[in-house]
Amino acid sequence: MSGEGAGRAPAALRFAHVSKHFAFGETDVLAVDRVTLDVAPGEFTAIIGRSGSGKSTLLNLAAGIDTPTGGQVWVEGHELSALSDDALTLLRRRTIGVVYQFFHLLPGLSVRENVALPLLLGRVREREALDKAEALLAEVGLAARANARPHTLSGGEMQRAAVARALVHQPQLLLADEPTGNLDTKAASQVIELLGALGARHGATVVMVTHSREAAQAARRVIEMRDGRVVADSAS
Ligand SMILES: Nc1ncnc2c1ncn2[C@@H]1O[C@H](COP(=O)(O)OP(=O)(O)O)[C@@H](O)[C@H]1O
Ligand SMILES: [Mg+2]
Repeated sequence: MSGEGAGRAPAALRFAHVSKHFAFGETDVLAVDRVTLDVAPGEFTAIIGRSGSGKSTLLNLAAGIDTPTGGQVWVEGHELSALSDDALTLLRRRTIGVVYQFFHLLPGLSVRENVALPLLLGRVREREALDKAEALLAEVGLAARANARPHTLSGGEMQRAAVARALVHQPQLLLADEPTGNLDTKAASQVIELLGALGARHGATVVMVTHSREAAQAARRVIEMRDGRVVADSAS
């Protein structure tokens, strides 16, 4: 890995000349255009930019959900394209937590079961998984709603449950794509505050995509994208 001295912790996330080109049929889009950036461990970073500027694609590349058409992505020192499918699945399951705009809670499960799900998929025993879920629900202020079905929660509560689910397996990297995009102002600021506070408490690096400059203010670092490129970075 170039540019890193011996003994230094690797960047939590590193993009080196990363591009993502979508081309099929009539579609021909350079969604991410030679992006290079490092995110330090524990940093809270916001990625802002207009709709279509490449923010979600960038996040999906970081999550290993999408593969770049050029350049390399490293997560916690692992270059993703060098990993086997199994190793990538394991890295995603252990190292990365994701929060989406539309929560993606499973309607047939209780809130507690939803939060426990990443652990259950990782073969943690059910009792332990449910206990950990309970602890995370307390941290997001939802202990009293553990047995409820997701559809009985408010939008803000659903997103807080989704934040609990994203952190239950103690990921090093927490990725959030427009986590407040579907919330009113008050619920939005609660969720942003939680992402910052829980990220810090759990030692997770947080990268949050948002089109709201207001939401981005909570972050220590703000990166702005336009047409697939980084056009501003408060850290540089
Ligand atoms: N799966 C896809 N196939 C084709 N084009 C895509 C795909 N995903 C994103 N794009 C295009 O890439 C560009 C960036 O999209 P996106 O990353 O979703 O932007 P943002 O999240 O900033 O709104 C847009 O022009 C979008 O239409
Ligand atoms: Mg998007």
